[in-house]
Order: sequence, then C-alpha cells, then structure tokens
Amino acid sequence: MTRLLTWHDEWSLNIDLVDAEHRGLIEQLADICHRFGPEASPRRSGDAFALIDALTDLGEAVREHFKREEELMQAVGYEDIAEHCTEHALLMAEYTDQLRRWRAEGLDVFDEDAQENARDWILDHILGADRDFAKAFHEMDDRLSATRDRSGVAVWAQLNAARRGL
Ligand SMILES: [Fe+2]
Repeated sequence: MTRLLTWHDEWSLNIDLVDAEHRGLIEQLADICHRFGPEASPRRSGDAFALIDALTDLGEAVREHFKREEELMQAVGYEDIAEHCTEHALLMAEYTDQLRRWRAEGLDVFDEDAQENARDWILDHILGADRDFAKAFHEMDDRLSATRDRSGVAVWAQLNAARRGL
C-alpha cells in the first residue's frame, strides 16, 4: 500500500512564501503518486508518456522554485549561498539523470521505489540545507527589520516586482 504523502507542519521553515512553494511541490508530487501509483485505475495505451510528462513538469517546478530561493538568498545576503546553489545544481543534475532512466525504462506506473526516490529527493533538501538557510534568515534581524516583515514577504514582493520590471 502506497504511503500517503501529505504536507507536515513541522516541515515549515516559517518563511511564508518559501513554505507555500514547498507545500505546492509536495502537493504536486502527491498528485502524481495518486494519479500514477500502483493503486491508480488501469492505464490507457494513449497515456504512455503521461507519467514522464508529469515528472518532467515537477522537475521544472522545482527548478523555478530553486531559482526564486536563490534570489531570496542573494537579497538577504546569505553567506552560504554558493554552497546552497551548488546543492541545487547537483539535485537538478541528479533528477535529470533519474528522469532519463525512468524514460528509458518506459516507466508508466509510479511504484513505491520511484515514489520514495522522488519524495526523498525533495524532502532531504527541505529538511537539510533549506533549514540551515531558514535559521540564518531568522537570525538576520537587522537586515530584515528594515523590511518590517520577518516572514520575508516584503523581500519577495520586491524581488517579484524587480523581475517583472516594475
Ligand atoms: Fe533550497
């Protein structure tokens, strides 16, 4: 029986928009588990690449999320940003490799091994390096007090405005 993947509040970093994105990624993965897991209804022949497409979309969503996290780290002057970016790059390389293997073997059922692989890939980072960043983020009192917003929302709003050229 596949373990149900749901967001746990203890995974929260208390940086609202980062948490919202992490939660969104976990929900996206949970949806893939639900739609393509061993208990899902029998697959139709026309859907042979649907699982790979969904996993490719997940990888792109993670890549976009990493980019925004890196922008936030840069904006707040996180001193271990280089190390963190390297971990992001390695994770994306690892996922690209995994995706290639899944595509080559024609994966069309998201079995428990594959689910665990994807779950660990995301969660180990959220609970490891991202927690280190969150700790540093919350310690940057002086810098963040200037935004009058300890949740980081103001910083993200500025970044988003900058990206849209406002
Ligand atoms: Fe990260």
